[in-house]
Amino acid sequence: MMDPKPEPVFLSFLVLCFISVLILVNVEADYVRPPPRKDLHFPWSLKPSSHPQQVHISLAGDNHMRITWITDDKSAPSLVEYGTSPGRYTSVAQGESTSYDYMLYSSGTIHHTVIGPLEHGTVYFYRCGGDGEEFQLKTPPAQFPITFAVAGDLGQTGWTKSTLEHIDQCKYDVHLLPGDLSYANYVQRRWDTFGELVQPLASARPWMVTEGNHEKEYIPFIKDGFQSYNARWKMPYEESGSSSNLYYSFEVSGIHLIMLGSYTDYDEYSDQYRWLKADLSKVDRKKTPWLVVLFHVPWYNSNKAHQGEGDQMMAAMEPLLYAASVDLVFAGHVHAYERSKRVNNGRSDRCGAVHITIGDGGNGEGLAHKYKNPQPEWSEFREASFGHGELKMVNSTHAFWSWHRNDDDEPVRSDQIWITSLVSSGCVAEKGYELRKMLLAP
Ligand SMILES: [Fe+2]
Repeated sequence: MMDPKPEPVFLSFLVLCFISVLILVNVEADYVRPPPRKDLHFPWSLKPSSHPQQVHISLAGDNHMRITWITDDKSAPSLVEYGTSPGRYTSVAQGESTSYDYMLYSSGTIHHTVIGPLEHGTVYFYRCGGDGEEFQLKTPPAQFPITFAVAGDLGQTGWTKSTLEHIDQCKYDVHLLPGDLSYANYVQRRWDTFGELVQPLASARPWMVTEGNHEKEYIPFIKDGFQSYNARWKMPYEESGSSSNLYYSFEVSGIHLIMLGSYTDYDEYSDQYRWLKADLSKVDRKKTPWLVVLFHVPWYNSNKAHQGEGDQMMAAMEPLLYAASVDLVFAGHVHAYERSKRVNNGRSDRCGAVHITIGDGGNGEGLAHKYKNPQPEWSEFREASFGHGELKMVNSTHAFWSWHRNDDDEPVRSDQIWITSLVSSGCVAEKGYELRKMLLAP
């Protein structure tokens, strides 16, 4: 008589084989990208109504910094005390405040106070409204090298937290954000929790942002677009001769940076285009050898997500940016990472810009996995993972760009490249006449 026990053993063997096959198949298949993480939970904290909340800073013209914070107390003063030693405030600046209503929501008082002139590369200690804790910030250096952290489409999920933790570990001077900040999506309280989430980083280094579609919050016949964004994230548009917070420029340590708006008029008769020409005519490549542009919707995108959405803006503005010898363009919107070769008019071009899509900051919509195949000739690296970038401008001729996945330790670079400036490659000089012609055209 046969032993009845072999049957379960045989079954176990079959199950083991099946699992092994599954594992093998999985290894063979493409690496499965991580799913989105849940929105973070922000516990309610009871603080005095005059307590400064959601503190963030931004560059505001030569040697100045704008300090922004919110209080529940409508009569809290918009003053900032600051100095270079903890607790010893040798200067005081007075600012202005605003607030807004959005359907049933009323914002706190939003204070904007510009401090300065400040020394370069210096740590300042500051306190907002004469109340609450002391913060510290570091001003950017006067000269190269300078490092930018770059992350777009942030949101406020577990992945956002992971991105911010990674950025916090790298040594950087200025944060660049090419649109889609809070993903509040009309729920105004979510703007407040986003401000709370980014405060530890954004109160210490300037955050220079431009708007994405999630900043619009437009309601036909009821609400104009960008109301909360403009009230909370005031950028140095007045300082750069722009009439709108939706596009502006600034200069820092040998770099001229232009922040454009993908969701405001950009054709050649628009205010934005006129301002862009005026701004480009002021750029002195001897003083600022690098020219960098940011906007939300990418022009060079081989991901299946948001295909063609940037085409109209590209048709309107790329000839001007090409003539101006823009070195680098950063965009977001597509929740993945992609880096192009130097490119213009759809083809690689030694005098074109390097386009980088970095919309993988961590929002709750998840990653954009599907790419067009074959990979276009101009596309050099593409991957759908959450992460951030670091741009180190080493000197007037060389910059080092690296991309860091959240799944890896921060120092691991999943993509990296040395970029040579268009000043040093001769393109700026070659195209000087073409640029002057375009800038002088009515
Ligand atoms: Fe977007």
